Amino acid sequence: MTGTTTDGGGCPHSAAEGPQPPLFTWEFASDPYPAYAWLREHAPVHRTRLPSGVEAWLVTRYADARQALADQRLSKNPEHHDEPSHAKGKTGIPGERKAELMTHLLNIDPPDHTRLRRLVSKAFTPRRVAQFAPRVQELTDQLIDRFVAKGEADLIHEFAFPLPIYAICDLLGVPREDQDDFRDWAGMMIRHGGGPRGGVARSVKKMRGYLAELIHRKRLEPGDDLISGLIKASDHGEHLTENEAAAMAFILLFAGFETTVNLIGNGTYQLLRNPGERERLQRSLAAGETGLLETGVEELLRHDGPVELATWRFATEPLTIGGQEIASGDPVLVVLAAADRDPERFADPDTLDLSRRDNQHLGYGHGIHYCLGAPLARLEGQTAIATLLRRLPDLRLAAEPDDLRWRGGLIMRGLRTLPVEFTAR
Ligand code: HEM
Repeated sequence: MTGTTTDGGGCPHSAAEGPQPPLFTWEFASDPYPAYAWLREHAPVHRTRLPSGVEAWLVTRYADARQALADQRLSKNPEHHDEPSHAKGKTGIPGERKAELMTHLLNIDPPDHTRLRRLVSKAFTPRRVAQFAPRVQELTDQLIDRFVAKGEADLIHEFAFPLPIYAICDLLGVPREDQDDFRDWAGMMIRHGGGPRGGVARSVKKMRGYLAELIHRKRLEPGDDLISGLIKASDHGEHLTENEAAAMAFILLFAGFETTVNLIGNGTYQLLRNPGERERLQRSLAAGETGLLETGVEELLRHDGPVELATWRFATEPLTIGGQEIASGDPVLVVLAAADRDPERFADPDTLDLSRRDNQHLGYGHGIHYCLGAPLARLEGQTAIATLLRRLPDLRLAAEPDDLRWRGGLIMRGLRTLPVEFTAR
């Protein structure tokens, strides 16, 4: 294998002085961008040993990242890994080792991917999302109502975390009286093993059982919800099987949950750290404009997005990325957070500019696995941020940035807590 290094030491690609900053430490988790800048410059396609012990290639330049995300020779199916048992269950979705949940969009290739994506796209339409806007606004206001009189809150636990879970439950058709159970199961799963022993496995099992039963019920008594839509959707006479519908509901929950928590969390945090940009946005919202909110949320995704690394890909044949040879079976991880700050692609990439126009970021991926939930994520992100700034105009951080802790997972980037203060109302 060419170009092999493990992290913490020098790198054979390096053409310049200066040691490589360590990867995957706590310090790295709180600010990975200097290390990514180093990699982009000195080792743009870099083989590394991950904390799990698996070796993988990190792709950090924008042009290489975009090409890799669309390269059909990079499979999403973990069976293509030369050590498939290592890679299984590593797409960041807890519990996916369970075979029934493995056949989801992020683990399969064409033609299966094409068929499933076409079927789900018939039910999960931009129109369905647009009709959902009043409900997202209502949920957002209800959550703020619960803490507005306190003058302080942890915006992750009291706002960013519950909003997406209630929203996706509503959209899927989980009855309101069962949604707090979902909230608890999801809370356990987002801790990535940090909860009580066996808690994650138990939560996944409960959620799986619940979804299977719900799908069965919706088949007998369809409603106007997304699960009923998934069951009904057909293409050339083909339908989703009950297992496929359950795996689809599960991936929608998981792909759409922690990501949106982190969009609201990271996005609000960045606005609080950039008062000039935040005031600009507040003025524009007060004037009844939405343009800066729309470009602003895209910029928050580019600048400090929720998905740090795209999910696993595996070379199905020998190939070259950015001049680096990759052997068949090797895992490849595209570092979206590094690509989206590539100075070759974005002017002044470390600066948050809410009105940035030339902003084709990779925060939602690229190619056939491009985020299916992007319209919903935009709706939730824009509604959450606009409502927070409107209702809590003097919102401020109640902790030193250095004291904030980031979650340590490989794929996602997000804060554990976001303590804030504001004038109680
Ligand atoms: C800000 C929030 C979100 C971000 C940043 C985000 C980001 C992404 C990214 C980067 C991918 C591609 C991963 C890869 O190629 O390895 C992806 C795929 C996906 N996302 Fe999202 N996502 C968000 C919200 C959502 C929501 C709300 C849903 C649904 C409710 C959703 C559903 C999906 C699905 C189903 C896929 C797989 C698509 C496929 O493989 O064809 N996402 N997302």
